[in-house]
Amino acid sequence: MRAPVLDAADPQAIATAAGLLRAGRLVAFPTETVYGLGASALDAQAAARIFEAKGRPAFDPLIVHVADVSQLDVLARDVPPVARRLAARFWPGPLTLVLRRTPLVPDVVTAGLDTVGLRLPAHPAAQALLRAFGGPLAAPSANPFGYVSPTTAEHVAAQLGERVDLILDGGPSRVGVESTIVSLVGEPLLLRPGGVPREALEDALGRALPLARRDAPLCAPGQLDSHYAPRTPLRLLAAGEERRAAAGRRVGLLALYAAPAGDSGYAAIEVLAPDGQLTTAATRLFAALRRLDALGLDALEAEACDAKGLGLAILDRLRRSAAA
Ligand code: TXA
Ligand code: MG
Repeated sequence: MRAPVLDAADPQAIATAAGLLRAGRLVAFPTETVYGLGASALDAQAAARIFEAKGRPAFDPLIVHVADVSQLDVLARDVPPVARRLAARFWPGPLTLVLRRTPLVPDVVTAGLDTVGLRLPAHPAAQALLRAFGGPLAAPSANPFGYVSPTTAEHVAAQLGERVDLILDGGPSRVGVESTIVSLVGEPLLLRPGGVPREALEDALGRALPLARRDAPLCAPGQLDSHYAPRTPLRLLAAGEERRAAAGRRVGLLALYAAPAGDSGYAAIEVLAPDGQLTTAATRLFAALRRLDALGLDALEAEACDAKGLGLAILDRLRRSAAA
């Protein structure tokens, strides 16, 4: 059965969703980053359903969403002052803090780790849902494992419509890339670049925030190289490489700020940010990738951006898309 899609601004829809979550069911809901596939974070069986619906490996932990900063002390222990400082500055918003967990959080949610990722989302519908449900929600991005993340309710319905119990439609996600993940177990470490730029975190921390090494054991499990991959093979253009499709092949271009001048030979072109803003590029990234992927082309090429501000997260997602 296909899940109904309800308007997230309707209080009745939120009440229905909260009821389903209390019954251990799955509800896809909007956040400012991407859509999440939610289940009760304190119900191991419900959380296990998320893994089943996504085809997600059990070693990949889920982010736990909370309605209130006070949940830090319920779900995490040994919370360092720096966690409160970052939460005060960036919550609600696209920042996930990895902290030591309390026994309240089931093993299945954290993939057996001694830590938990916590985030207080900014989207009003996500907050309304968390309040109506009255507890924390485990929610990964609402896409099949390894595919591009969803930034609209239609994206969720197209791929997981048969596997969730309800989809809340809160419009296109404003940020467009997932939350930034920072580990505060030990020295602060950037596990995943995302919606809060690294520079803003470094400013708040008053120190450099090193990026976790990709091969570091268990520091960002599930951060597989082939994440976010479209079905069509994607290649990242080298710096300064001419934007031109090889003759005889149907190639799509994901351009950053403008289409190439003249006849470049591409079968389709998506321009991410005609206004020159990286925030626009982030917002439109996954939807543009999906549109190009739907054309059944031979190959996709993507233009790289500078690894500054939101550019770090965009580049990270493009590299992972290209790694499949
Ligand atoms: O913006 C977001 O973060 C979205 C929305 C829905 O909130 N969620 C999201 O979840 O991107 P997901 O499952 O696609 O990515 C979660 C990633 C995991 O793959 C893992 O790398 C990291 O978060 N993670 C979660 N808990 C962790 C932990 N305890 N330690 C280290 N990494 C963790
Ligand atoms: Mg994901």
